[in-house]
Amino acid sequence: MNREDMKRAAALAALDYIKPGMIVGVGTGSTANYFIDGLVGLKDRIAGAVASSAASAERLEQHGITVLELNEVGLLPIYADGADEADASLRLIKGGGGSLTREKIVAAASRKFICIVDETKQVEALGAVPLPVEVIPMARRYVSDALTALGGRPAVRKGFVTDNGNLILDVSNLPIIDPAQMEAELDHIPGVVCNGLFARRPADMVLVGTSSGVQTLT
Ligand code: A5P
Repeated sequence: MNREDMKRAAALAALDYIKPGMIVGVGTGSTANYFIDGLVGLKDRIAGAVASSAASAERLEQHGITVLELNEVGLLPIYADGADEADASLRLIKGGGGSLTREKIVAAASRKFICIVDETKQVEALGAVPLPVEVIPMARRYVSDALTALGGRPAVRKGFVTDNGNLILDVSNLPIIDPAQMEAELDHIPGVVCNGLFARRPADMVLVGTSSGVQTLT
């Protein structure tokens, strides 16, 4: 099994948790795309989907799946999305695709957050990948300096603007000893919209595609 097969297997395993009539929260990225493609087979049995990005909304619509606004829906029963890293406590780093803010909103508004990853995303400690931080453009320099003061090495993601019109700083080298504490600390820097640590609201379940099948972590 190659990595794409493992991503697809995890994504398709998440379909088992969808019940008739549900409105489904849908994430962003290559693994979430496999989930969207699999959702097509259930499209007549679900009430619609809420997307965490414009790209996922477009893919859902292309598949003939009804896309609803989160404001119309309120709470969602289920949300499936990928991650860049997942630890054994189901805490995540997300935002490699730059949709972290909307992803965090949809995760917060969902009763069950199922994270779908291939086995390469499992880590003992979060932070090997750069941590994405969404920043209001006029605060770029201020936030970069604040992140540097915390020990990080921020780099502006070149040529990228989020669905919310903001920038992404990818921060390497940040000492993430306590992910929930760091998540809160970063969110308190003026100009930060959101950061890619999902520790205060971790996943409820991680489905890991491995070479020997899909493992379920709860
Ligand atoms: C999108 O902003 C991200 O949070 C993705 O969920 C994450 O980067 C994983 O993406 P892949 O499934 O493409 O690896």
